[in-house]
Amino acid sequence: MLAQALLVAAAASAVVAQDDFVPLAAKRFEWTNLPYQADTSDGERGRQAGYNRCNATTAGEDSLCQTAVINSLDDFCLWAPPVPGDVVGNIEGEMVAWCTRGEQYGARTIPAGALTGVQFIRTPHYVQVTGRIDQTLINIGADDDGGEMDPHGADQRGNPLGGLLFSNSFGPAVTNGTSSSGVAFQQVVQWHNFMGANLFCLKACDPSWEDGWRMCEHIYDRIGCNANAPAAYEDGVFESCLGDDQLPPGIYVGENGATSTYSQPGEGVVISTLPYVPAIPSTSSCTPYESAAIYNQPGGAAGITTTSAASSASTSSASSTSMNSTSSGLSSASASANSTTSALSSASASNSSSTATSTLSSASSAVSSLSSAISSRTDAGGNLVASSTSDGAASATSAPASGAGQLVPIGRLLALMGFVAIV
Ligand SMILES: *[C@@H]1O[C@H](CO)[C@@H](O)[C@H](O)[C@H]1NC(C)=O
Ligand SMILES: *[C@@H]1O[C@H](CO)[C@@H](O)[C@H](O)[C@H]1NC(C)=O
Ligand SMILES: *[C@@H]1O[C@H](CO)[C@@H](O)[C@H](O)[C@H]1NC(C)=O
Ligand SMILES: *[C@@H]1O[C@H](CO)[C@@H](O)[C@H](O)[C@H]1NC(C)=O
Ligand SMILES: *[C@@H]1O[C@H](CO)[C@@H](O)[C@H](O)[C@H]1NC(C)=O
Repeated sequence: MLAQALLVAAAASAVVAQDDFVPLAAKRFEWTNLPYQADTSDGERGRQAGYNRCNATTAGEDSLCQTAVINSLDDFCLWAPPVPGDVVGNIEGEMVAWCTRGEQYGARTIPAGALTGVQFIRTPHYVQVTGRIDQTLINIGADDDGGEMDPHGADQRGNPLGGLLFSNSFGPAVTNGTSSSGVAFQQVVQWHNFMGANLFCLKACDPSWEDGWRMCEHIYDRIGCNANAPAAYEDGVFESCLGDDQLPPGIYVGENGATSTYSQPGEGVVISTLPYVPAIPSTSSCTPYESAAIYNQPGGAAGITTTSAASSASTSSASSTSMNSTSSGLSSASASANSTTSALSSASASNSSSTATSTLSSASSAVSSLSSAISSRTDAGGNLVASSTSDGAASATSAPASGAGQLVPIGRLLALMGFVAIV
């Protein structure tokens, strides 16, 4: 009798729980009034591993804070495992926030020397931080090609479960939320973050933009940073730029000039090439920094790449990757300058994206130099290989750990391409 009553009660509560379920991306939160946990359900993946209410008492190396921010070159967080030993693909649901200012946000602090190249870009519709990281310093294995975090997931509870992202980049929130400095932080509803292969990218789409879901698409989880957040990924460069919108992930222009949508194959299928070269949008008004100056870590310059980025002030760096030799393998990925042009214009025409067209020429030249570089892929560079992953997202991975600071051009090229399984 009792057992039966319990069963009925359990069934009833299960039904209630299902009826009450709200996808993470449909929930709205205020920075100044965060719940202990954004995810209160207890589904197949269990409970949320950490918490969203983070403060001075939660800061530090054991923090399980799952509220991240992306504000500027020196003020952002990345998702990484709470402990070493798991591959990203298996622990995406439990990732915690690692921030450049962990103390400020009640989170972990990205250790000195981990970030070896960072670019922050503000475009008309999103902010994005991309770069290179010694991922072993944030509990990711050296050979881990990684995976994708976003507020979706098959069960719509997010990866990590309950993971939230806030930014002061999109104007005052409609709520009353303010940061300690008085700047409004808004919940970023659509975002994605790829971690792995010593690369990272975090894109936060403007919450007021109706197409944010598309620009911060979450279905291309196997093709890494360079397809989902095409950028320079230059080691030793730390810069904050303005930029133009990329094409939404997966949208590209084929050799025939037609705009197409890439369809990522299922897990069982090896992705050896992409049928397109992701175009790197042009950047402008870049402000270079020395890493030691912006990541004010105890321990200072030890291990931090202090090479200044003072050289470049604008545009993407794809031109530096051009090389010449033969061999192909990736030549099907080539895209012509002209097709990029039509891709951008049709993309902006088809929806509200608008300003993408202003970057045509530099995006085009970036693409064509990438194309020529791609068609020259050989193993000449040696120390960088692309590797396959069954669980993850990433791109190329550098074989020796020391490669992070000294990628040869071929390595940078492959990293730029973001191919997962080059056979
Ligand atoms: C600090 O965060 C912890 C963990 O979320 C929470 O339990 C505690 O109530 C918070 N303290 C304050 C003063 O908000
Ligand atoms: C801000 O908070 C005050 C007091 O709680 C409330 O009266 C006001 O409507 C709020 N404003 C907005 C924009 O939510
Ligand atoms: C090939 O590379 C060499 C050395 O970088 C350069 O001088 C030459 O112009 C390149 N040739 C072509 C066709 O790009
Ligand atoms: C682009 O198109 C123009 C005119 O349609 C043509 O003259 C030019 O050669 C094309 N450029 C490339 C790289 O195909
Ligand atoms: C943009 O595309 C989305 C998805 O197709 C659609 O819901 C939205 O209405 C479009 N916006 C405009 C301005 O066409």
